[in-house]
Parts: sequence; C-alpha cells; structure tokens
Amino acid sequence: MHWTRTLQRCALPLSLGVAALIGKNPAALAQSDSAPSNQSAASQSSGNEWWRHAVIYEIYPRSFQDSNGDGIGDLKGITSRLDYLYDLGIDAIWLTPIYPSPGVDYGYDISNYTAIDPIYGTMADFDHLVAEAKKRNIRVIMDYVINHTSDQNPWFIESRSSRTNPKRDWYIWRDGKGETATSKGEPPNNWESWFGGSAWQWDEKTRQYYYHYFYVQQPDLNWRNPEVRKAMYGVLDFWMQHGAAGFRIDAVSRLFEDPELRNDPYLPGHNAYGDRNIEHKYTDNLPEVHDVLREVRDVVDRYPGDPVLITEADEPNITELTKMYGHGDEVQLPMDFQIADVNQLSAPRFRELFKEIESNSANGQPEYFFSNHDQRRQWDRYGDGRHNDQIAKMMAVLELATRGTPQMYYGEELGMRTTDPTRIEDVHDPIGKRGWPKEKGRDGERTPMQWTPGPNAGFTSPGVKPWLPVPPSAREYNVQTESQNPDSIYNAYKRLLSLRRTNAALRDGVQTTIDNNDPDVFAFLRRDGNSTVLVALNMSAHNRQVNFDLANFGIHDSTLHPLYSSPAQPPTISSDHVVLAPFAALVAQVQ
Ligand code: NOJ
Repeated sequence: MHWTRTLQRCALPLSLGVAALIGKNPAALAQSDSAPSNQSAASQSSGNEWWRHAVIYEIYPRSFQDSNGDGIGDLKGITSRLDYLYDLGIDAIWLTPIYPSPGVDYGYDISNYTAIDPIYGTMADFDHLVAEAKKRNIRVIMDYVINHTSDQNPWFIESRSSRTNPKRDWYIWRDGKGETATSKGEPPNNWESWFGGSAWQWDEKTRQYYYHYFYVQQPDLNWRNPEVRKAMYGVLDFWMQHGAAGFRIDAVSRLFEDPELRNDPYLPGHNAYGDRNIEHKYTDNLPEVHDVLREVRDVVDRYPGDPVLITEADEPNITELTKMYGHGDEVQLPMDFQIADVNQLSAPRFRELFKEIESNSANGQPEYFFSNHDQRRQWDRYGDGRHNDQIAKMMAVLELATRGTPQMYYGEELGMRTTDPTRIEDVHDPIGKRGWPKEKGRDGERTPMQWTPGPNAGFTSPGVKPWLPVPPSAREYNVQTESQNPDSIYNAYKRLLSLRRTNAALRDGVQTTIDNNDPDVFAFLRRDGNSTVLVALNMSAHNRQVNFDLANFGIHDSTLHPLYSSPAQPPTISSDHVVLAPFAALVAQVQ
C-alpha cells in the first residue's frame, strides 16, 4: 500500500490531476492564487482544511542542498530535491528565513522582508520553487520574523539616524537611568536579552538606548505603532502573492513590552551566559499579542487556499498555548513546545500532555514536533546510547500516529544527530561563541543534510568546504544507504507517512488514551467511524507484555492486525496478549 504514491508519481507526469488521483484533498489543490478577496475566510472554516491533514517538513535552507558549489544550501538545491520530498510523503515545507540578512542570527535578522538573499538565489528561483512544489502538491510556508529586524534594515538605519526621524518610533527607544551630558547612565531597567546580557543597547549618536529581546543586531519593532503594523502586514501580502501557503510566525510572544518598563523579577541562579536568571514577566506574552495575531489572520484570510498560521511561542502551559487559537480567529497551529520538550521517554508524561492538548478548550488542532533548528535533535534527546535506531522509529510513530499536524525537521527521517563543534574557533552561532563551553550554540542541529555516503554527503560538490562540517554519522545514516535497507529509520518514516495518508482513522480519527496507569507503555486508540487503530509504544528498555482491555470502548475479543510494527510483530495478535520488545512501536488495525 505504501508504495502506491511512489509508483503513481513515477508512472505519470506530475500534474494537479495526478495529485488528485493520489488521494489528496482536491480543495487543497487551489493553493493561494495570488489575488486577495475582501472576504475573510476565518468564519468559513470547513473543518477539512489542508493543514489538518498535512505533515509539515522544516527545511533549514543553508543546510539542505547546495546547487552552486559555494558550500551553502540554496533555493535551486531545494527545488532539485522536491522529488525526494514528494516520495517521502510530506505535504508542506517550512523554509526558515531566506531574505536578505547580514546573517548575525543566520537569517533571523532581516534587512529586507520582500526579497531573496543572493546567497539563496533570486526571486525567480523562489517562484520556480513554489511552482515546482505545487506540481507535487507540496505547499511552501514562509518564516515571518515579526518581533525584530536587523540593525541593517533601512527602517532601523533611519530610526537611529535622529530622534526626530519619522521612523524613530518604529523601534523602542528610551533614555537611560541617571544619564547626563557626559554619561550614558544605566539601561532603563533590568530586562535581559534571551541571548545574554542586557536587552538595552546604548546608541551614542542619539544618546538613547534601544531594546532588543535577541541579539544587539536585532532591534525590536514597536508594534504599538500603526505604521509598523501596516508595513509588516504588507510583507504578508507580498509573500501571499508569491504563492506562500502561510507563515510560521517567529518569537511571537515577545512582541510587546510593559509600557511602564517595570523590572522583571529575578529567579534563583545564573544562566549559561553568566546573567542572573529572570522571569520575562514584562516582556513576554502580553495580551496585545492576540490583537496582532487576529490582524495577521485577517490579512492572510483574504487569500484563497486556507492559508495557515503557525506560531513559535514556547508557551509554558496548556492555558497559554490554548490562547493562541483565539476563537478560531488567531492561529491554527501553535507549536506545542510542552510535548517537544519532554526530553525523556516517559509514558506518564506524554500521556498527560497529549490528553491536555487533545482536550484543549479551543478545540484547536495540535501541532507536534520533536526537533528543529533551535533544539538538539531528538536522536540525542531521546536516544539512550544503545537503542537509538529503535527509539528513533518509536518517536516517528509518536509523531506520525497521533492526532494533529506533525512537523518534521530535515534529516530526522534519517536519524541525523546533533554534531556540535569541538572548538570555539569553529562555532558559527553567536550564542555558542558567547556561552562556550556551557552553551555550544545551535550549529550542531544545523549540519548539512545527509544524502549519500560519499564526499560531503552529497550536500555540496566534492572538494568544497560546506559551511558546517558533515557529521561522521553521514557515512551510515544517509538517504542512499537507508533507502536500500527496509529496516532503516528512513523506511520507517516512509511507511508511516504513507499509512497516515491512506488510513482515515490515523489521519483524522479521535485519539483516546487506553491505559492511564502503565508506567512504560503509552497506548491509545485512533477511531474514525467504524475503523479503530491501536497504537502502543513501549517507552522502556524492558520487554513488556500487555493486556489491552478494550471493553470500555465497546470492543470485545479483539484481534490486532499490525499495519506497522517495529520490531516486526506476527500478522495477528490477540489484544489481551501483546508482547512489546524494548522501545517497540505497534500500530494495528483492531478487528
Ligand atoms: C526563534 C528562531 O527560531 C531562532 O532561530 C532565532 O534565533 C530567534 N527566534 C530570534 O529570531
């Protein structure tokens, strides 16, 4: 069954017709044609929007595929790998920023929101990528860096040029405390940057401080200024008109700060940069964030194709996360950092968190992920050093067999691992330079995609120095080698992605936890109409024998037919006697 999609793709030229044949939602094929309409679509939610059934794949463009031999990935490189993505079975790619940038925060410091950084190619390359992706029914989601710009952005250059410049108020400028004609005084308050040090930077020319939640080179925009809102909403229009399917909104909870500039409360201890720990009480999650999210939603909803909004907001609990959905008028997919950050194979903890998000009071769609470009890869965070391949497959089931919209990170389908620099001289990410050796930065999770066992793992031409070194593990863990091994992590992902697409219960079915007390096994049912799928994950290093009593669900004397199992299970299993090897995963049709 899981090969159907591949065979159809190979046998026929790609066209929208083919995409429809392979069972995708036909409504979804109308990806945003550029013209906006005056009618907001928020009120017209069909409940069957493409993003509800999609699997999103995050690409870090610098590291995916280099097409021109400069050691840095680019747009043409991504386009050349669309067949791979199609064959893998994902539905949308999220591109981390590809806009012109001095690169202090590797693209999250934007100097021009409506252009392509020449490192990655041209606008024509982008349009070509979107068109080619569309032929494969793959959508392109853009990164919307909303909280701050680069200090090289012309808006900021104007803003810092004089206190009376019309763009002065586009950023957050304040006087220092105790400033005199000869001294800059102290920063206006104790607010700290997420990347270390004070969040205030003195600017000698106009003798005021500006606020930056992140690096000094990333001044925060002033979202209380209507002109800022207008300019930033224009950015959304620009990319929607270039065929974007939606946006992943960066650092959204940091948009507003307390107008009274009250000091944040200190917490015990110090962080990796040596600063006192602090609670970002007055710089994070202010209620005004939701006004902006509603406005952003209004802008994108003027375009057809059910544009999606995803928020990056590491909400501390389900109550804060739930607020991101608004009343169906804010974000469709707030990333669930609670689940991403469990960081231990704990059946009780996953059970509790999945229950919470499943029953969120906004009835919002969950969005799951385990790895991204800011976080050590799941291989390292969940692997025990002994069963890592098996654990990687189990985590794939956890991600792809639960209800919601999963978000993968390039290379997780191979078992790519975090490979940190070993010397401070080799570090690229400034937080690694600043926090070394406690904080080695994020280079380790951004290494080149591993395509082949050959030179540079096929990421760039042989003999070229890739911008980050290819990890030694690429010799074994790469697309070419793993695609030839039916038992590889890569083939596990492919099978699961195919299963999710073809099995309605797995794709859309209600999720219900089966056993509330098992310390090792996280098990749940996915039910759609008469079809029931059981998913069982042994999160322990012991063999477990489990009796799944399904009587409470109206299911008696049931037999399980494995749809996916790792390690392999017999073709039929009685639900009252299921044997699960260490870190085993089972997905089975209940009959
Ligand atoms: C979150 C992004 O994911 C991260 O990479 C970046 O450094 C910060 N936001 C600042 O933009």
